[in-house]
Amino acid sequence: MGPKRQEGTDTGEIVTARRLAVGYKDKMVWHDANFGIERGEFVAVIGPNGAGKTTLFRMLLGLQKPSGGDLTVFGSKPSRGDSRIGYVPQRHAIDNETNIECVELVHLAYGGGRWGFNLSTRREKDAAMSALKAVGAEDLAHKSLASLSGGELQRVFLAEALVSNPEMLLLDEPLSNLDIRRAIELVEVIGDVVKERKVTAFLVAHDINPLMRYIDKVMYMANGKVATGTPEEVLTSKNLSALYGARVEVLRDSRGHIIIHSRYGGEEVHEEAYHVI
Ligand SMILES: Nc1ncnc2c1ncn2[C@@H]1O[C@H](COP(=O)(O)OP(=O)(O)OP(=O)(O)O)[C@@H](O)[C@H]1O
Ligand SMILES: [Mg+2]
Repeated sequence: MGPKRQEGTDTGEIVTARRLAVGYKDKMVWHDANFGIERGEFVAVIGPNGAGKTTLFRMLLGLQKPSGGDLTVFGSKPSRGDSRIGYVPQRHAIDNETNIECVELVHLAYGGGRWGFNLSTRREKDAAMSALKAVGAEDLAHKSLASLSGGELQRVFLAEALVSNPEMLLLDEPLSNLDIRRAIELVEVIGDVVKERKVTAFLVAHDINPLMRYIDKVMYMANGKVATGTPEEVLTSKNLSALYGARVEVLRDSRGHIIIHSRYGGEEVHEEAYHVI
């Protein structure tokens, strides 16, 4: 489906950051980040509100310039409107589109948002339908967007991002508003897409647990820093304490779920104040 993927190397880093820093005006969001993400890796981007997760996506999309260091995407500086990247934003503007059918929405995304449904080729319509199929949403093709549940909408947005056969997917909190069963289902769909198409995917989430079986790497942002590596490497009490600059404990419950606790504030003030991040 979609246009033929551009030839490139099958292995090697798709995204490389060296001493990368980002901020807005005088405000530093994070700095000194070093990471390399390879083709076909599934990366969870985790961190508290305001840590800079969406900002990372804005940089990968070429919408935000680094304030220091180097970032390369597909071997060069990020550039706006790169059709190799499929993006599902954190907040999706659908106000003007709520009456259109799902298959039309997906179809409109083909070729970078070109309008003109009536002029469409058979091939484009097939691509829209097969993107919906790939995410298990072919039943929704002729439903209007307004009639979908949150979980159904997320599938359709994923299809929209997939229709032009991207090499990289940026998914900003696609699991928010989903119950745990739907969240796991969607992660499974994304995990399959990543494997079958060798797509490199970044997924922002607040809970790492539904992702654990599928991800290759975690990028954990907090306190102006970014730690990247496999879940085993990153999710330790020692590493997260260093990241937060405070005592953080990584616990596993009897079902293997990860619980990350931190103690905020000074000991005298918030003696018992443990929070799940
Ligand atoms: N356009 C902007 N101008 C100035 N500051 C901004 C801008 N966009 C984001 N920020 C600030 O940069 C920081 C990081 O924002 P970002 O949206 O990347 O966080 P996030 O990790 O995605 O948070 P959330 O979990 O709430 O979505 C925040 O403190 C935010 O207020
Ligand atoms: Mg965000």
